[in-house]
Amino acid sequence: MTNVHLDPYDHAFHENPYPYYKALRDHDPVYYNEERRLWLLTKWDDVRMAFRDFKTFRSEGGVALDDSSGGAFPFPMFITSDPPDHTRQRQIFAPLMTPEKVAGLEGYTRERAVSLIAPSLKTGRLDFVADLGAFLPMDVVSTLVGVPPSDQDKVRGWADDLIFREDKQSQVSNRNVTGYMELAKYFDAHINHHRAAGGYEDRGLLRALINAEQQAVMSHSEAIGTCILLAIAGNETTTKLIGNMAYHLWKNPDQRQLLLDKPDLLEKAIEEVLRLDGSSQIIGRMVAKDIEIRGKTIKAGSRVGLCIISANRDEDKFPNPDKFDIARGSRDHMAFGFGLHSCLGAALARMEIRVVFEELLRRIPHYEIEEAGLKMAHSPNVRGFTNVPAYF
Ligand code: HEM
Repeated sequence: MTNVHLDPYDHAFHENPYPYYKALRDHDPVYYNEERRLWLLTKWDDVRMAFRDFKTFRSEGGVALDDSSGGAFPFPMFITSDPPDHTRQRQIFAPLMTPEKVAGLEGYTRERAVSLIAPSLKTGRLDFVADLGAFLPMDVVSTLVGVPPSDQDKVRGWADDLIFREDKQSQVSNRNVTGYMELAKYFDAHINHHRAAGGYEDRGLLRALINAEQQAVMSHSEAIGTCILLAIAGNETTTKLIGNMAYHLWKNPDQRQLLLDKPDLLEKAIEEVLRLDGSSQIIGRMVAKDIEIRGKTIKAGSRVGLCIISANRDEDKFPNPDKFDIARGSRDHMAFGFGLHSCLGAALARMEIRVVFEELLRRIPHYEIEEAGLKMAHSPNVRGFTNVPAYF
């Protein structure tokens, strides 16, 4: 036992969380933060077990690390539900999010990526997050649920308002609630409009939502909640992963050169950045019954954080875990979670990142990052930069 202290809201911790996680894995792997009344699991085996044991580690009321929303978000999102409610809703969308299905969005993704990169080719400057990552994933998700390009800017704006966090903010703000309510109003009207119009512009996901509603498999509130969930789940994590990938390729010039020499390694390189520095940091759960882990008892009703990015650097699982090795080829990371709630957008996110880096590295293989301009997001949930400015 040691006196390692980890506060997931602490800005110093966000700057570089890995030494804190290592200290916990070495000395206090099942850690309790009294002030936050939060348990943290940091070892790969324990995080895996918790993802798998959904009867003990419940998602209802538990995915966030604190319960500060006070009922401000009335439309149910299935990420915060458990079977059978979760199963009923997830199975509507899972068949539409396979690699084969998301391949249909590749053309649009590539077009959008190329047009976002184009202005930088004239200036010789590109912020991987602010100029590129911040736009692309949200526009792709919007397209997925049938939001036309003319509405994408405002939908992105509301989604940004919903997830925006001031420095040190741990409670939900007015801006967050307003963003949420605007999204809800928009998707309410969007679903109603397309239900009345029929055709649904052949968007698979929107049609599935409307069918599910009409067959009473899903309520209208749940359909609205699902649209909001897709907008936020698919947005910030993908945005940040683009920045993390650009950063690690620059920080490890030998690995970047290897990728330039062997472009076939791109998919493995993406898995490696997901493992080494994935963008989903901690996912919460509520414990339904007392459970003992490594000699400590976590009581029913406790909140637990599953520290994904710590598990993905567990030295008992991954040899030389701090090394960025694009040929490692391990897919045993949990960057997309694991089990019942594992990321529904994983295939989409992988496709988006691949397309972005195919287009980027073809045009700007030897970019330099301005280290002084790097800015880290301060969030207990998401890991990554808000700014990754580069020149070339
Ligand atoms: C790099 C990008 C992404 C990362 C790191 C990521 C990470 C995750 C993680 C860790 C979970 C598990 C949550 C839990 O166990 O409670 C999750 C769930 C989910 N993700 Fe992603 N995600 C990404 C991109 C996306 C995209 C692009 C979409 C959709 C458009 C998406 C939609 C979802 C949904 C709907 C869930 C809930 C699944 C369920 O509860 O059954 N994600 N994601």
